[in-house]
Amino acid sequence: MKIKPLHIGPLTIANPFILAPLAGYTDLPFRLLCREYGAGLVFSEMISCHGLTYAQQKTWHMTRSAAAERPIAMQLFGSEPDVMARAAAMLNREPIDCIDINMGCPVKKVTKKGAGAALMKTPDLAARIIRAVCAATDKPVTVKFRSGWDHQHITAPDFAQMAEETGASAVTIHARTWSDGFAGTVAWDVIAAIKEKITIPLIGNGDVMNHAQGLDMMRQTGCDGVMIGRGCLGRPWVFGQDAPQQPGPQLRLQALQRHLELIEQFVHPLQALGNIRNHAGKYFKGMHNGAEIRNRIYQVKTFAALRELVDTLLHESFAQEPEEQGKQQADNDRGGQREIEAEISPADNNISGQTADGQFTEQGPHQADDNEQQADNNKIFRHINAEAF
Ligand SMILES: Cc1cc2nc3c(=O)[nH]c(=O)nc-3n(C[C@H](O)[C@H](O)[C@H](O)COP(=O)(O)O)c2cc1C
Repeated sequence: MKIKPLHIGPLTIANPFILAPLAGYTDLPFRLLCREYGAGLVFSEMISCHGLTYAQQKTWHMTRSAAAERPIAMQLFGSEPDVMARAAAMLNREPIDCIDINMGCPVKKVTKKGAGAALMKTPDLAARIIRAVCAATDKPVTVKFRSGWDHQHITAPDFAQMAEETGASAVTIHARTWSDGFAGTVAWDVIAAIKEKITIPLIGNGDVMNHAQGLDMMRQTGCDGVMIGRGCLGRPWVFGQDAPQQPGPQLRLQALQRHLELIEQFVHPLQALGNIRNHAGKYFKGMHNGAEIRNRIYQVKTFAALRELVDTLLHESFAQEPEEQGKQQADNDRGGQREIEAEISPADNNISGQTADGQFTEQGPHQADDNEQQADNNKIFRHINAEAF
């Protein structure tokens, strides 16, 4: 299949494989890393419109960008059209390319205020928000939402049409309902149904773990681009056409090494170690000796020690006898294959979605990784713009 560029308003996105907004993960260093590995467009974490308009320092910090990551879309969340418009007007002055509106977040803290996925239950309010944001900026505005609130209300095709009519330049569909959380199968038929209803570009999202699956999604649903979230954590190379299915230790270590360099460049030294903690272990999922490397990483006490450890591991991996490298690659292939199978069919592996308090959890065959993931997610959703609530 020939990959075509994506056009969002005046923007031309050469590679339609896009980095998803991921609270707690898609900060400036990680976005830069994904761009370097080929992501065509990158999304910020969701940013509270209240946090921006109250000039909260923590929130403003999230809007920091760099020329090298462009094109960049910054995502706003909120439920009041006037506040969203004011926040959009503030973002309009920043060197960014696109403003995205979050209408898909299932987290209770967000939906109980009528924002995120709750807006799928109030399409008139959603329409007012899109209009207000479009009026406040001359940058293209995009909207990200789910299939609907629950399986009795698959409203995404009408919702997408409403978004187009009210001024959106593109939409993204995470093809699950709010009630699904992160469980169950991603509904490709809903993506195809949306495509029938709109003329603006459609970006498909949900459980795409590699380039081939993304191409399949585009081919089978007609969507114009693909957004990758969890599939790029610890694997920023997935956006490229030549991304390896079973990456060896060197690729993983080089990616982490570069990630550390970018953190050093853009993150305050006191926050650098905390910043990489969410990510570091993920680079070694499904890899021969992965658990051992993760343990060593978790034991380091300083960012400098982590850099040194990664440099040493990389040096060791290059110095290894070719025979041993071959054996490790074979082990990786087996581990990687198991991991990919597990991630392709998350429903079969009991990815349990939301807990009672609306946080995301995941359970799967890699229990240690999953516990770590769950702790990460819980932490993330505790900190998301906590000051705004
Ligand atoms: C840890 C985490 C944080 C997320 N943060 C956001 C967010 O800030 N804004 C948003 O629109 N979606 C957010 N999402 C949803 C993702 O963007 C994406 O729609 C979802 O994970 C499905 O795609 P995937 O299977 O490729 O991960 C988040 C998901 C996870 C797991």
